Amino acid sequence: MTTENKNWSARFSQPLDEQVAVFNASIAFDRRLAQHDIKASLAHADMLAACNIISTEDNNAIANGLQQVAEEINNNTFNWQADDEDIHMSVERRLTELVGAAGKKLHTARSRNDQVATDLRLWLRDEIDTLQQHLRAARKALLAQAEHHADTLMPGFTHLQIAQPITFGHHLLAYEEMLNRDASRISDCRRRLNKLPLGSGALAGVGYPIDRARVAAALGFDGICENSMDAVSDRDFAIEFVSAAATLMMHLSRFCEELILWGSPAFSFVSLSDAFCTGSSIMPQKKNFDVPELIRGKCGRVFGALTALLVLGKSQPLAYNKDNQEDKEPLFDCVDTVNSCVSLIAPMVAAMTAKPDNMRKLLEVGYPTATELADYLVRRGLPFRDAHHAVSAIVQFAEAAGVGLEALTLEQIQQYAPLADEGALAALSATAAVERRNHIGGTAPAQVRAQVAKKQAELD
Ligand code: ARG
Repeated sequence: MTTENKNWSARFSQPLDEQVAVFNASIAFDRRLAQHDIKASLAHADMLAACNIISTEDNNAIANGLQQVAEEINNNTFNWQADDEDIHMSVERRLTELVGAAGKKLHTARSRNDQVATDLRLWLRDEIDTLQQHLRAARKALLAQAEHHADTLMPGFTHLQIAQPITFGHHLLAYEEMLNRDASRISDCRRRLNKLPLGSGALAGVGYPIDRARVAAALGFDGICENSMDAVSDRDFAIEFVSAAATLMMHLSRFCEELILWGSPAFSFVSLSDAFCTGSSIMPQKKNFDVPELIRGKCGRVFGALTALLVLGKSQPLAYNKDNQEDKEPLFDCVDTVNSCVSLIAPMVAAMTAKPDNMRKLLEVGYPTATELADYLVRRGLPFRDAHHAVSAIVQFAEAAGVGLEALTLEQIQQYAPLADEGALAALSATAAVERRNHIGGTAPAQVRAQVAKKQAELD
């Protein structure tokens, strides 16, 4: 590898140590920013010409050259050279090979510091737009299943113990609600990151009469970074994204954990189509929920990326430091991981078939309507604490008898709650229990349908 010919090397009397050159280079991973780098360079050169900093002829030559570089990269004919330190130098090197002197003018009024900060924001903005599409699809799939199961009864859990009857639709809507907030966090992040760093130069701004607003408009930025030192050095936009992504992954992991539990014979609440499961190489009977397990497992990468980026930033003095080159790999890995996980949610949710009979069976063994009986006694005039006490005794009795509450006779109930009448038996119905919770946020089928309709309209 030759390092004498780097574009910053004129003041150096010795070539760069070969091991250092390899250590220093980011081209192996930042080539991923190529198209965004070129897009930003096109806007930069166009502005330089508009401000009479370079000539129109030079700008035309640069634009044509960059177009060709973009094509070469796109169709894999670009000659990546090992001693191109990073993507910015690769593109400029090739541009200059193609168009000569004009190519050497592209870097006027610019530094790699404001360049890389711009590229990364442009790139992340596009990735966010892709992620939002996957999130919408995931939310729509959850809404479709929720609508389908607005009336499906299942036990709701606290502490993973059977607690109260709920509808499966309501349970699924809880996840839609989480993903809805994730989407909103990510769009907040997009709004804050959509500001132009270019024009900040190395750290202090540039000594040319530039037009930053023109570049911002050409690149679709909503504004301009208003402090050059902050713009070249801070990566909080990436941290914010990865933080939102980590929260999103935590939500996906909860959902996947439930799918895995529901798919186990102990619950047998759902099945997942074969397309989403794999077998075991040794146990012929196995059908494993590999996809949700992997999504659960991939949380570690994203949480790790968040830690990496926070640690990366925390001790850097102003302004740009080479430390920041280390922002890319965790961010890239986070984006790839989150996109691949979220894009699997919609098809996986669609591939899920509920087993309402099994849900119902477990509902019956768990005394989930004990609260209903207590509420009923409260309506009959008993203070809640006394009602709670009486129903505990009734549950104990039913447990000893090995039956569910609905199998008890009125006389048996009256032994512990003399106030009870025929209404006590009606109070024990799980269907009535969910229907009674008919308010915003409640589990009633009518509420599930209303929520689905409202959210579907928001997503369309
Ligand atoms: N490859 C560098 C990065 O990713 C580009 C900026 C380098 N700037 C510098 N002054 N060495 O951060």
